[in-house]
Amino acid sequence: MFILPNNVTIIEVGPRDGLQNEKKYVDTEQKLAFIQALQGAGIAEMELTSFVSPKWVPQMADARDIISSTPQVGRQFVLTPNAKGVELALEADVQSVAVFVGVSNSFNKKNINRSTDESMEALEPVIAHLKTAGIFVRACISTAFYCPYEGKIDPKDTLALCQRFAAFGVDELSVADTIGMANPQESYNLFSMLKKELPDMRLTAHFHDTRKMAIANIFAALQAGVDRFDTSAGGLGGCPFAPGATGNVATEDVVHMLDTLGITTGVDVKKVCQAVQMIAPYISRPIDTAMYRLFENGQL
Ligand code: HMG
Ligand code: MG
Repeated sequence: MFILPNNVTIIEVGPRDGLQNEKKYVDTEQKLAFIQALQGAGIAEMELTSFVSPKWVPQMADARDIISSTPQVGRQFVLTPNAKGVELALEADVQSVAVFVGVSNSFNKKNINRSTDESMEALEPVIAHLKTAGIFVRACISTAFYCPYEGKIDPKDTLALCQRFAAFGVDELSVADTIGMANPQESYNLFSMLKKELPDMRLTAHFHDTRKMAIANIFAALQAGVDRFDTSAGGLGGCPFAPGATGNVATEDVVHMLDTLGITTGVDVKKVCQAVQMIAPYISRPIDTAMYRLFENGQL
């Protein structure tokens, strides 16, 4: 018998992770329509956008407009790696901030132009400031399993970074298989260890689906006691600085699996597919998730 939770929280990352890698600029209006449709599908937690350098990631240049035009229903995150982004987030009256750092030094340098230690040293006072201001802080841990430049990551290094963030006082850890290389055993082992070592931490799993193992990894993480998953409608996504990485695991496919297991998410698969249909014309590749295919064929 599998041990499964009754409820799972889906954190939608499509508007941020999903769109950041799109070369052709998606208009702010289209992004906002996508976000609204996802909220209408029952998504209560979402990464809306990011405050990063517009030179590095031009697609996120309209972050300020996205935030000011989105109702703060549930928990709406803005992602940022540094003090400058946090300053912008506070100016925009954001209530929930996600910071990000890679376990792998090489990846962190490519992604943020800093070593992992430099990022952490700079983030410590920034997180303290956010907590004093009453802001919810989520820390995204990239390359928790594998790095595109360094290969396999020692789980002890991932744990150490998570413990450091926990000591900084973050409210949540989102632990990521950035390039979609982990297998279910590795997923189970890492999340079991994190649950054991950080029992009071809100723990979320973030899987990219490069090798189509994300759903299996989610099932393994459920067994390890994880009940929060980052997913992206339409399976959109990928980090521009992680070569070979494709999209995140698709929201509609994960919710469908959880539905069939009797696990409540509050998210409506058909409405997620309707949101995907709205954004699909602006995406540079065909959308080919299992549930979206059924939806398009009128079989949902
Ligand atoms: P840098 O060039 O070292 O930055 O880049 P800098 O501090 O020297 O500043 C350069 C310019 O950027 C300045 O402007 C700053 O004001 C500006 P200028 O004077 O030239 O006009 N700047 C900013 N502007 C807006 N927001 C900011 C910000 N910071 C500086 N926050 C930097 C360093 C971090 C800025 C750059 O490397 C960067 O923007 N990187 C972002 C990379 C990124 O967005 N990656 C994708 C998200 S992470 C991800 O997808 C992984 C995740 O999904 C989990 C997983 O799957 O692994 C979360
Ligand atoms: Mg990601």
